[in-house]
Amino acid sequence: MIEQKVRPEVRPMARPRHGGDVWHYDGIKDYSSNVNPLGAPPRLEEYIMEAARDLHNYPDDTSSQLREAIARRYDVGAENVIVGAGSAELIRLFPEVFVSPRDRVIIPCPTFSEYSFACQLMGARIIEYPLPFDNDFSLDVAELMARLDGVKAVYVCNPNNPTSRMVGRRDLLDLVQEAERKGTLVFLDETLLELSSRSDELSLVPEVEGQDNLFIIRSFTKAFAMPGIRVGYGLGSREMIRFLEAGRLTWNLGTIEQRVATRLMENEQEHVARAVRLLEKEKGRMQVGVEKHLGPVPSPHSYFFFAPLGDLGVSSSQFRTAMLRHDVLVRDCSSFGERCEGYSRFCVKTPEKDDEFLVALGLAVEEIREGRH
Ligand SMILES: Cc1ncc(COP(=O)(O)O)c(C=O)c1O
Repeated sequence: MIEQKVRPEVRPMARPRHGGDVWHYDGIKDYSSNVNPLGAPPRLEEYIMEAARDLHNYPDDTSSQLREAIARRYDVGAENVIVGAGSAELIRLFPEVFVSPRDRVIIPCPTFSEYSFACQLMGARIIEYPLPFDNDFSLDVAELMARLDGVKAVYVCNPNNPTSRMVGRRDLLDLVQEAERKGTLVFLDETLLELSSRSDELSLVPEVEGQDNLFIIRSFTKAFAMPGIRVGYGLGSREMIRFLEAGRLTWNLGTIEQRVATRLMENEQEHVARAVRLLEKEKGRMQVGVEKHLGPVPSPHSYFFFAPLGDLGVSSSQFRTAMLRHDVLVRDCSSFGERCEGYSRFCVKTPEKDDEFLVALGLAVEEIREGRH
């Protein structure tokens, strides 16, 4: 009986699957979620304790101090910034505000599953744009641009999760401008760009005030390695943010989240910069180690690998199980669709941790080859 009451678009929906599920294993080393390999800044606990003294009032519903700190960091106005309980909240909010039932949205695939989940919830018609398999899944922006007629919104994740491919700034700007001519909104996910040495060069954040159709999300989760504290943010024109603010959940960020994120934004940029330098050095070394066991792997544009399992003859999920036997968690990519069955996603960390990963990888691959998995 209850099923009949559920909105028809919700009935067939299943929850999206993600990495980082460390809660069901003891002593597991997580390489499935892409966060700062240095961990959280050492002063994080101090910031939390400081914020915890002041919980007797409702939080500031406008998150004004945090939005100002973010605005200073990016040299935009606080009115260009909205904050959310993780960027995940803003992924949900965007279609709630802009997408009506039966609106067409284009989502490249494979990509982060929350975009289509949020659009489905609003009853959108989702047009999947398959990223070309024979080009390491790199996005062909010209092709995407040719498909924008009658489309309400197009999604781009840069670099893309799970493929670790980036799109150049000029290409992205062309896409945004063409989308503007066609009356299409662009949702750009830059959450994985922040730990890249090309973050400033590739980011479209400086464009938000001039491009009314552009919304960009970023997050504290990856840069400061704190997925357990939910803070993300979005940047857009004042007009766009005004409408998103109108639909935002009241008190979406608690006082602890607001205060801690403000301190991190103001005091801990060097922590992020250190991680970027480390990852830049470590990526190449990790690739050599990975290729020794798995054969050729496309050079990641980001700090995580999307590695073909090649001739191992196992699925993504079987590979995950084989790695779990050595206490290492990698991302089972099967939830990204059939085309990703033969891939695994895992991140780059510090040299010591990557050496541990490579030992586990060597043992798991040996067991798979000997049929002992
Ligand atoms: C590409 C991408 N965007 C957004 C998110 C959401 O992150 P958060 O809600 O922690 O900001 C994730 C999380 O894994 C992600 O991979």
